[in-house]
Amino acid sequence: MEDVELLKREAGITACKFVKTGMRVGLGTGSTVKYTVIELGRMIKDDGLEIVGVPTSLATEKLALEVGIPLVELSDVSSLDIVIDGADEFDPQFQLIKGGGAALLREKIVAQESSTMVVVADDRKRVETLGAFPLPIEITPFASESTIRKLTNLLDCRVNCRMSGDNPVITDNGNMIADAHCGPSIIDPIEMERNILMIAGVVQVGLFNNMCDAVILAGSNGVEEIINPKGRL
Ligand code: 5RP
Repeated sequence: MEDVELLKREAGITACKFVKTGMRVGLGTGSTVKYTVIELGRMIKDDGLEIVGVPTSLATEKLALEVGIPLVELSDVSSLDIVIDGADEFDPQFQLIKGGGAALLREKIVAQESSTMVVVADDRKRVETLGAFPLPIEITPFASESTIRKLTNLLDCRVNCRMSGDNPVITDNGNMIADAHCGPSIIDPIEMERNILMIAGVVQVGLFNNMCDAVILAGSNGVEEIINPKGRL
């Protein structure tokens, strides 16, 4: 396994210590949290862990079923105890950019319903100021070009429709993704989120503000558990 893959695995597995029997667990999406999902499946099988999961994407739903995690619909539970998810960037205030895997809408709905959010990441994701990673924004296919124009004017940067070959990427919700190349300049992510959500064609933006309670960060010196002092853990 490559170094970075080992780091992802370490972070993903370490986060499982926050999961206890009886919990309703949001299952994030991506190549880091994949290791959390696999480990939770192992804990169910070998350690008698009893949980139910709510996946944040069709890909995670498939993996969770493969490893034997019982799933429920978000609408069938009043709230979730915890969500564990990856991130594309996090800043010193624990604000996040997410959506690199195009799952930001379901991820944000699940995070909003969760009493705690633990992020799993390798140390390339830690930044001083958000924005080097292009900000993912889920938009409606209807009038997508006009929405992208409005986003370009608002953010004053290049905004691209995310493509897969010759076709736009289509999310699990049938929408498209616009990526905003802001550069590392997002000093007020809360105001930016508010402004972006004012545009009618925007479904959701991958700024996750005031949601993250802890980051399990794997680096070459081992795993660091960074607890948000203003968080719920
Ligand atoms: C998917 C996400 C992912 O959590 C984020 O892109 C991090 O993924 P990875 O762990 O593969 O780097 O937001 O929409």
